[in-house]
Amino acid sequence: MVEQRLIPETYERGFTEPVYRSVDEFNALPSNVWPRTARREADGTISIGGVNLKDLAREFGTPLYVVDEADFRSRCQDMAAAFGADNVHYASKAFLTRRIARWVAEEGLHLDVASLGELEIALAAGFDPAHITAHGNNKTPAYIERIISSGVGTVVLDAPDEIDMVNQAAQEAEGTGVTQDVMVRVKPGISAHTHEMIATAHEDQKFGFSLASGSAFTACERAVAASNLNLVGLHCHVGSQVFDAEGFSQAAERILNLFVEVHSRLGVTLEVLDLGGGFGISYTARREPLNVAMVAADMKERVSHRCEKLGVAMPRIMVEPGRAIAGPSTVTIYTVGQVKDVHVTDTQTRRYVAVDGGMSDNIRPALYQAVYDFRLVNRRAAGEPTPTRVVGSHCESGDILAENESYPSDIKSGDLLASAATGAYCYSMSSRYNMALRPAVVSVRDGEATLMVRRETIADILALEP
Ligand code: LLP
Repeated sequence: MVEQRLIPETYERGFTEPVYRSVDEFNALPSNVWPRTARREADGTISIGGVNLKDLAREFGTPLYVVDEADFRSRCQDMAAAFGADNVHYASKAFLTRRIARWVAEEGLHLDVASLGELEIALAAGFDPAHITAHGNNKTPAYIERIISSGVGTVVLDAPDEIDMVNQAAQEAEGTGVTQDVMVRVKPGISAHTHEMIATAHEDQKFGFSLASGSAFTACERAVAASNLNLVGLHCHVGSQVFDAEGFSQAAERILNLFVEVHSRLGVTLEVLDLGGGFGISYTARREPLNVAMVAADMKERVSHRCEKLGVAMPRIMVEPGRAIAGPSTVTIYTVGQVKDVHVTDTQTRRYVAVDGGMSDNIRPALYQAVYDFRLVNRRAAGEPTPTRVVGSHCESGDILAENESYPSDIKSGDLLASAATGAYCYSMSSRYNMALRPAVVSVRDGEATLMVRRETIADILALEP
């Protein structure tokens, strides 16, 4: 089978134009990027969930992640409307706290965990283990033991020996053994044109079993033969921040061939086709998010059509969105510190605006050249557009949060800048580089702010050293 590259440019890189061309554009709040309850108030400040960001910065300090609860829940509802709540497993790697797990449960969605840590947080939140799917390309014995003993609904098998490890753990559970539902993760040979580090379905990478080489069928055969495993379906994840729905549908169509093979050669009718996550969101006003309802309709139609042609029963289509639920819900507020005009060439200078966070609270610009939408939140800006770079406070010249922008010239020390769409893979990928203290996370709703995670302290760090 030939590997296909289907999906055109999905990251923002390649855009050379700055996001804003005028101060009015800078003062606006694009609704495709900012949380659904974000407003520019009459006094020029920004509020979210009826809570003023300037007040939040004063109360909780900066950097600060602010999560719009209504936005997060509304995106859960959008996914539920498109796929059916039971078929949506929120990918907790994007952003997980106990409160977030509870929102997901209250919205009727299920949960995808990819590590022992994520599983423990979900269980600590009281998430129904039967509604959890457990992933991971290198599950440890301790993780597998906890998966089985806590009663996790489905395990996604990712490697040959793991099939035996999960089967054995299920055999030894509760004295008499249990039967564990499993899926096999398949690489469909579709290569999503997203950033190469977050594309996951092409052949030469670590996840899953290859469809083309036959190893996916062999994995299914082993799972079916295993005494304590119940093979319920197949899983794939084409990549992340994907904008072309064609990738999902093509992956589905390829995987359905394996449904047929499993049925005809093993006599097993698979019930679930899990297409993973990856739905693209807007990080800047230039791009509209992927229309999830349309993707869902397209997937269902294509899968149903293909099933009819192949003569197999229509499976349940499941998805695992992380970014599309958590991403747009959150903004990060920073305080501006040093502002420096840097000589670039004899005719060009660039303004460097340093903020009190950086690659420790958002590694994505440095890792994937991701682009973020920054706005001034304590007032309206008034200056002329000026070539500007937003940088963090870490000891690395690559500690850049916004690389090639044009911001009003009046941004100064003490101002508050916020970047939008930082709900996915920012807090969850945060680090302590330079002994930075992880920021606090606050959720807002109906005029009230609630601390979700407190800011780390030096005492927290020292406490780790015996
Ligand atoms: N399901 C599986 C099996 C996954 O591997 C992932 C993401 C998801 C679901 C959720 O994908 P989403 O809907 O969030 O795109 N750190 C990168 C993203 C890596 C995603 C890894 N897997 C980033 O910051 O862009």
